[in-house]
Amino acid sequence: MTDKVESNGAVQLSDDEQALLTDLGESRRKFLGKVSATTFGVLAAQILAEQEILANFNVPEDALFAPVAEENAVKVTLSVNGAQKSLSLDSRVTLLDALREKLGLTGSKKGCDHGQCGACTVIVDGRRVLSCLTLAATCEGKTVTTIEGLANGDELHPLQAAFIKHDGFQCGYCTPGQICSAVAMLEEAKRGQISFVSDEIRAKARPLTLSDDEIRERMSGNLCRCGAYPNIVKAIREVHTGAAVAQTWEFVKEDKTDATV
Ligand code: FES
Ligand code: FES
Repeated sequence: MTDKVESNGAVQLSDDEQALLTDLGESRRKFLGKVSATTFGVLAAQILAEQEILANFNVPEDALFAPVAEENAVKVTLSVNGAQKSLSLDSRVTLLDALREKLGLTGSKKGCDHGQCGACTVIVDGRRVLSCLTLAATCEGKTVTTIEGLANGDELHPLQAAFIKHDGFQCGYCTPGQICSAVAMLEEAKRGQISFVSDEIRAKARPLTLSDDEIRERMSGNLCRCGAYPNIVKAIREVHTGAAVAQTWEFVKEDKTDATV
């Protein structure tokens, strides 16, 4: 070692050591410069990507909230109620949120948001799914039908009409999910898919004829806090069998009111 310690405690370096330290200092400055440039480059790219996504937002004029930039944006193209839709979405967005927040289809309801109530049920490629548990990004190229897509213009879907006829709802919050579920459930029965309470699981008969117990079991994933279950079963049975079920309620008519009261 050629280093000397001076009286003030500083180490006196040799010429070689001084030259080496100068080189190292130069390298360190260059290294830090490159790191900063790279970091800035990454940040700039992210900001530009966010700006591009924001620019592509379709913001309704009466929107209450300004759009926020999406992270992990993906493009998803799907058919919703017969119309092709191309969306730019955060890859973590659920189908329910995409339908409600991006497409304005608020018929599908957010009840529990945890897959337990069925309020968010929609039909994807002919099968009922819980849209709160389905990532929109997994629906690329699929066909989605919501409650808004069931009627044919002014003509209600038979299940919609039957729900009205049999008073199958009170507050109506569960009704879109109940009806979407019932529509796909009747198709399941036509395909001969059995359920937990099916008597004859080897039966080849299809379409299956559903008992009320079968209807209750198959609809058990759709909860109704108002307890409209008996009327929901009647509505589904009427559409399933094609045989009219007697309506058990009616509006009070004037001639039936007690004029003396
Ligand atoms: S909101 Fe999806 S199951 Fe309750
Ligand atoms: S009608 Fe109110 S929750 Fe079903």
